[in-house]
Parts: sequence; structure tokens; C-alpha cells
Amino acid sequence: MHRSLQIPDLVQLLCVEIAGDDLARTGYGPEASRDLAALARTCKTFQDSALDKLWEHQNNTMINILMCMPDGIWHRPEADGKKGLGQLHAFIQLLETLSLCFPGDHFFPNLRYLCWVTATAVASLPLIRIFLSPTITRIYIDIAPSIHHLSLLPTLAVKCPNLKEAWIAYPGAGDLTLTAVRSMSLLIVGMGTFESLNVYDIDRAAFTHLAQLRTLRSLEIGKPEGFNPASDIADEGIFVGLQKLTFRSINPDSLSHFLRPFRSSPLHSLNISVAPNDLANPSVYSAVAKNLSQQRTLRNLTVGSTHNVVPRASMPEVIRDDMIPRLFCFTQLTALCLYSRNGFDLDDSTLSEIVASWPQIEVLELMVVSDDHAFTPRATLNSLLTFAYRCPHLRSLKFFFDASIVPTLDENTDAMIIHDALTTLSVGQSSISAPVADVASFLSAVFPNLSKLHTSYWEWKWGLELDDNGLTGNRVIHHRRWKKAERLLPAREVEEDEVEDYSSEEEADKEFSPSTGTG
Ligand SMILES: *[C@@H]1O[C@H](CO)[C@@H](O)[C@H](O)[C@H]1NC(C)=O
Ligand SMILES: *[C@@H]1O[C@H](CO)[C@@H](O)[C@H](O)[C@H]1NC(C)=O
Ligand SMILES: *[C@@H]1O[C@H](CO)[C@@H](O)[C@H](O)[C@H]1NC(C)=O
Ligand SMILES: *[C@@H]1O[C@H](CO)[C@@H](O)[C@H](O)[C@H]1NC(C)=O
Ligand SMILES: *[C@@H]1O[C@H](CO)[C@@H](O)[C@H](O)[C@H]1NC(C)=O
Repeated sequence: MHRSLQIPDLVQLLCVEIAGDDLARTGYGPEASRDLAALARTCKTFQDSALDKLWEHQNNTMINILMCMPDGIWHRPEADGKKGLGQLHAFIQLLETLSLCFPGDHFFPNLRYLCWVTATAVASLPLIRIFLSPTITRIYIDIAPSIHHLSLLPTLAVKCPNLKEAWIAYPGAGDLTLTAVRSMSLLIVGMGTFESLNVYDIDRAAFTHLAQLRTLRSLEIGKPEGFNPASDIADEGIFVGLQKLTFRSINPDSLSHFLRPFRSSPLHSLNISVAPNDLANPSVYSAVAKNLSQQRTLRNLTVGSTHNVVPRASMPEVIRDDMIPRLFCFTQLTALCLYSRNGFDLDDSTLSEIVASWPQIEVLELMVVSDDHAFTPRATLNSLLTFAYRCPHLRSLKFFFDASIVPTLDENTDAMIIHDALTTLSVGQSSISAPVADVASFLSAVFPNLSKLHTSYWEWKWGLELDDNGLTGNRVIHHRRWKKAERLLPAREVEEDEVEDYSSEEEADKEFSPSTGTG
């Protein structure tokens, strides 16, 4: 054997490499598990390191460890052949036995991460107690909607005093909410080590406690409401470490109260979701801009919607071009994602002003949530020239515009605009009535590395066959024309399983008649 393999550190690194690094949360995939097991059996030199790695993560199962125990230890009345609920019942019984007979305090004295999902086995939650080791630093618990289960939360602070990261999910509805908020808040107040916390709602005491935690980096709250945190907590020296803030569902009135405490935090990322009907509410954007105007560190900003699927809108809800300029104060933005129910009413000149404010921008997504919006954007292909000119780092753009006229590139001035960072352009339901070849050559002249054109038809109806039966409406026609333009891009990489279907291209051209409009 090579001498380097006698160095235990190297063997450990080897095992880390085999395990892969992207699965820290869920465990290893079948291949990595198989390889580690093979390694452990092949040679004594590898055995310990490989076994340690193999047992480090157990994904969704206790079975492996139970199988290592002597046969006679479990009484299994006719468990064989039982599937589904029967099996689950047997498993819960097994945990109960374990919980009764295990002499120690915690079954895994070295446990770091515990993920407990009760969705299918509500009754199993009380059994969590034998797994609550003080070594746990990350915990994910999905609590069943039952009041007595909530009493676990305050105890967690005692049993796992080193928690750094907690994700506690419970249905926030009905009479339970108040109890849930109180239990959750008792846990929070008992903890001094949180770095990352994801909860549904908390109360004033918990919020005030979190504000003092210098360790807290990331905070995600489902639906904060019920109190006004801005009214009585100090303005300075709070949330001093917070970099990432998410509100999963907040109403515009609470928003200004809940943003204010973070105005001096070193925020990198802010992600706010509001109800679809509030997306075009100007007070959302002014609350963000006014209350965080001192923020100089913000890089990622998302204002989205709590629901992706929007019922047919009775009225168009469009984000007007006077709402976005409020966000100009965040000059360091690298990623901006805004959602609108029906579209963005921006023209080319407003756009040029907008993009000039964010010279660092890499990802810009102006997305439309509604599937059937009838709003035709004022922005045209010209706006892409503006992006090319003003946003040198842009690599992903999601933007709806009207491609009916292809701008002529002026050889003297426009030749300067060669933007090679942009690789992906998502056009949503943008219409394309100009000749496809002209659009493609315009795009590739300005963005030589552009290789992907996505439409919302493709993204949202993934898996649908684009057969002739489905060929109804302008959406499919425009989708096909955009895909045809994509095939004409020189930078495009042909995927191996891709079928070049020229007949459908011709069809798309044949069926498309610019005079039918772009609605
Ligand atoms: C973990 O278990 C879940 C459920 O059994 C499974 O869907 C997932 O693919 C597993 N993950 C890995 C990395 O094996
Ligand atoms: C923003 O938060 C929502 C809700 O939690 C999430 O679905 C979405 O992926 C987040 N977006 C970004 C860009 O982080
Ligand atoms: C926070 O935003 C609200 C809504 O726009 C505004 O009325 C309030 O003055 C802002 N607070 C501060 C301190 O800027
Ligand atoms: C910010 O956005 C960029 C680009 O989408 C992403 O790579 C990065 O992880 C995000 N950072 C945070 C803190 O969310
Ligand atoms: C654009 O493509 C060229 C040629 O493939 C490559 O050399 C260059 O690095 C790419 N630029 C960027 C920013 O990806």
C-alpha cells in the first residue's frame, strides 16, 4: 500500500471526498453509502474512517442501527409482510420500547443534527426525548397540531442548550396559534446561542431577546404580527449580527414596524413575501426603502408573493414605474427579484434610470405571477441594450417585453456594447412577433454568451408534451418562436437528449400571424 495511506488524516479526507459534500443535511446517496461500505470491508486501514463517515448521517431511518442489535432483543409479532401504516406502527412501538428500556439519557450521545418530521406519525413526537442530546446544534422539528406536543418547545432550551440552528414548523392556525407562539417564544427566550432561526411567529419578549443576540445571523419568521416591535425596543445595538432576514407572509401595515429594528443590521439578504393582492401596493416598497434607507450592505432583495398560483384576477395588478425607484437607495444590490401579479408598467427610459442605480447587479428578475395576465409591457428589445450597457455583471435576467421591432445596431456606438456575462434570459410570456432570426441575431450580437431562453410556458408547464393538440393560443406560439430563437443562438449547448424538431419550427412560423396581435 502507498505510504501516504498510512496517514490517518489522508484516509479521512479520502472518505470525506467519497461521501460528497452536498448532502450534509439528508445523508449520503446510495452510491456514496455503497462505496464507503465497500471501503470499510476492503482493508483495515480504511475501516474506521469509512465506518465513521458512513454512520455520521442516517437519513430518515433508525433501521440501520436497530439491525445491528442482537436478533432476540426485539419481540416482533408478525411484522413481516406488513407495509405502510402497519410498519409505522411497529416502528413506533419499537421506539417506545427503546424509550422505556434505555438506561441512559440520550441514545446518541454525540448527535449534532436531528430532523424529526411527524407528518405521518403524529404519535411519535413524545419519543423524541431519547434523541435530545446536549450536543445537538441543529434541529428541525415539524410539530403536529396538538397542544400537548407544543410543551416540548420550552424543554428544548434545557435539553439542547447549544442549539445554533432551529427550524420549528407547526401549522399556524386556529386556537392553537396563541399557545404555539407562547411555547416557541419560551424556547427562544431560553436560548443564547442561536445563529439561525426559522419559526412561524413569536411574541414581543422573544423578539426583544433575539434582538440582543450577537450570534444571530439569519432569521426567518412566517407571519409576524400581534405586536409592534418598533415601539419599545432600543434603536441602536440590536440585531447587530443579522445578515439574512425573511418574512414568509407579512401584511404591508406590519412591514414598516418589523423592518425598522433591522435598519442598522449588516443585512445582506432581505426576502419578503406578501399576499398577491399586495404586490402592487406602493406602501410595501416605501416601507422597505424608508425604513432601511441606512442600509449600505444589502445585496439580495426579494419581494415576492405567498402564493404562486393566483386565481383569475378581476383587476389587473401592475407594478408602476414610480414604485421601483424607491429601491434606488440600495446601491450595492447584486440580486433583485420582484414579483408582480400582472406585470410591470415600465418603459425603456424608466428602465434605463432603474438599472443605472444598481451597477453591481448580477441577477435581475421582474416576474409575473399570474398565468393569464393581459398586460402588454411597454418595454421593448431596446431595453436589453440598456441592460447590456449599464449592467456589466448581469448573468441572469428575467424580464417581460415586447419583441415586435428589432433595433438596428449602430456600428459605431453599439459595437461597444458586448456583454458576455449574460447566459440566461427568461422572457416569460413576452411576445415575439419580429422575425425569429432577426431577434436571435440581435441577441447574440449584444450577448454573445447567451445560451438559454426560457419562457414561462416552458417553466410552468414542465413535462407537458408540446404536441400539436396543445397548440392553442398565442402563448404556445410565442413559446415556440422563442425556442426557435434559442436554437439559433451560437452560444447554445445542444443537450444530448434534445430532439431537433424542424417540422414544428415551420409549423410555428406558419401558424403565427403577427396581425393577430400579441395579447
Ligand atoms: C433521504 O430519505 C428520503 C426519504 O426516504 C429520500 O427521499 C431521500 O432521497 C434520501 N436522501 C438521500 C441523500 O438518500
Ligand atoms: C424567499 O422566501 C420564500 C418563502 O420563504 C422562498 O420560497 C424563496 O425561495 C425565497 N427567495 C429567495 C431568493 O431567497
Ligand atoms: C417606515 O415606513 C413607513 C411606511 O412607508 C413610514 O411611514 C415610516 O415613516 C418609516 N419609518 C422610518 C423610521 O423611516
Ligand atoms: C444572493 O443572491 C445570489 C445570486 O442569486 C446567491 O448566489 C447568494 O447565495 C444570495 N445570498 C444570500 C445571502 O441569500
Ligand atoms: C463568454 O464566452 C467566451 C467564449 O466561449 C469565454 O471565453 C468567456 O469566458 C465567456 N465569458 C463569460 C463572462 O462567461
